[in-house]
Amino acid sequence: MRPFDASEHWAIFVLYRSAMKRHPSLIPLSHDHHHTLVLAQGLIVGQSRAPRSNWPTERRKQADRVIEFFVETLQSHLKNEEAEIFPLAERRLPSREALIFTLRQEHEQIRSLVSDLERNLTNNLEERLPILGRLLERNVRQEERVLFQAIQEELTESELKTLGSRLAQSRRQADSCRLINTTRNNTSSTDQTRY
Ligand SMILES: [Fe+2]
Repeated sequence: MRPFDASEHWAIFVLYRSAMKRHPSLIPLSHDHHHTLVLAQGLIVGQSRAPRSNWPTERRKQADRVIEFFVETLQSHLKNEEAEIFPLAERRLPSREALIFTLRQEHEQIRSLVSDLERNLTNNLEERLPILGRLLERNVRQEERVLFQAIQEELTESELKTLGSRLAQSRRQADSCRLINTTRNNTSSTDQTRY
């Protein structure tokens, strides 16, 4: 998903460059972070200045994009970090305990704000969407600049390879679950059409 033109944001460019230096095991999550940051910038700024951007100017449509991105990417990304990254970091990088506690809290806040959007897609979006954008931006930057950097500097190559395999397996499982749900929804909708 490319909701915003990344070339107009220096901050995104910096993140992209740092992602290029990521250990291979962390690159898929860093790619998610790149797309999350692009989305966050769109929510904060409100509209794109790039002529070819497909980012909608209407807040209501931006809220739709957030929910779509959450279902397709962010939901499983958060779960992956909570299942694989945070427990490993808590074990191997005990000095980062406070940071990981904060990141877990931010994940819950992100879920709560997206859930609020699903329940109410109209009221006060001009205020709610930038709040979500700033939260996403803060969370991504802390994970990229501090946690991922510490993980790739302080863990052994063998630990990083094991982590990469576990993350890849989790992503494959998430992809198959999404495919099954999509097939079920399509079948259900076809059934409804018949009746
Ligand atoms: Fe993340």
